[in-house]
Amino acid sequence: MADDTLDSLYPDHLNTLAARTQSALQATGYDALVLHAGAPPIQFLDDQSYPFKVNPHFKAWVPILDNPHCVAVHVPGRRLRVYFWSPDDYWHKAAKLPDAAWTRHVDLQPFADPKQLAGLLAGLGRAAYIGPRDQWPDVPAADLNPAELVNRLHYDRAVKTPYELECLRRASALAVRGHRAALAAFRRGASEYAAHMEYLLACEAREEDVPYNNIVAYGEHAAVLHYQHLERRSPATPRSFLIDAGAQFRGYAADITRTYAAGPGRFADLIELLDAAQRCLCAGVMATRDFRDVHLEAHRLVADVLHRAGIISLAGDDAVQKRLTSVFFPHGIGHLLGLQVHDVGGVQGDPQGHERPRPAGHPYLRLTRILEPGVVVTIEPGIYFIDSLLAAARSDGRGAYIHWDAVEELRPFGGIRIEDNVAATAGEPENLTRAAFARDTETKKAA
Ligand code: GLY
Ligand code: MN
Ligand code: MN
Repeated sequence: MADDTLDSLYPDHLNTLAARTQSALQATGYDALVLHAGAPPIQFLDDQSYPFKVNPHFKAWVPILDNPHCVAVHVPGRRLRVYFWSPDDYWHKAAKLPDAAWTRHVDLQPFADPKQLAGLLAGLGRAAYIGPRDQWPDVPAADLNPAELVNRLHYDRAVKTPYELECLRRASALAVRGHRAALAAFRRGASEYAAHMEYLLACEAREEDVPYNNIVAYGEHAAVLHYQHLERRSPATPRSFLIDAGAQFRGYAADITRTYAAGPGRFADLIELLDAAQRCLCAGVMATRDFRDVHLEAHRLVADVLHRAGIISLAGDDAVQKRLTSVFFPHGIGHLLGLQVHDVGGVQGDPQGHERPRPAGHPYLRLTRILEPGVVVTIEPGIYFIDSLLAAARSDGRGAYIHWDAVEELRPFGGIRIEDNVAATAGEPENLTRAAFARDTETKKAA
């Protein structure tokens, strides 16, 4: 189907990738870049494969997400060539050669057998190859995923092209449909499993299509940061619902978390306080800002929320210095988002790959860079009641600043995370997630 906005943005996206790649190749002494889409690994002692996850370097160029063994070749000054795997296979449905507006800008060539690739790729000069080692058994180790080249590409990838921003907006819109459906399921008493299935149905996704495993956590389960189970039984006493779930559009990810209370009370009030702090942090996603400062500001704001909610007896910097916020907020405030949910290059200080260090005492922060227009990040503060962290605080002296009666009251609710996807621009930040929720509401009102 024609899609005018994306169709008009795609050629410039290709041009930007070509320009970035050309300068990375020049700097590292290569003549060409060869990208393998990858192939799904086979399960141990079985003939079944794991789900196929395409090489993100490959899908950066072309939205071919579900066909392994494809190879893209960039030679500066030439059109991108894509060798498209079209086997003669009566066991599976072979992928159809794409025919869409974007295919006019690349040179698509079908091939039947991966053994043909060596011949097809002859004569490229000194080529760098990016892809899994098992797909490139004959490539010299030095030219396979060479770090000096890959670092440059990863560094550049943080700044999204207008095409990528549009893909990210659409991923958010898709995810919002799922979020609405899952919330409705929670509200009518459905299990975590049922809410998850409603989510997938609403986004027209199967599990392998979403960019990470949905976190669908009721009550105490919300205290497990990456809760991975799906309880099949409905909750006896519904208290809270944390859902961290995304979607993909043309290979670009949304990563959205919402937390809901089953009814009014102390937990619902805490959600409201954290939501206000989260909006404030989103407003600070400004070009030239050091993301480490965003993270440290998040700790101060979380301290204030905890203090106002009667959970700790200190506020702001005093609480942060006593490491009280780390008891309740033990992860980073956010990360780069794009072709991967935790997009690469977050702690790279330069194209050469030198690390830009995390602030002392914050080992889980995934992004330490200076923000620029086009960089898309998540902003995801949380407050959780995690037994092991509370026990550590109780035994190391921090417990004296914690109001344990409040903690006991809130512990059955698990925790809260509120996560938006936000683009830094030349002016005000663009909150892709809140805009998608607002558009969804408008659409429903109009219907
Ligand atoms: N969904 C994983 C994360 O929020 O980083
Ligand atoms: Mn995230
Ligand atoms: Mn998330």
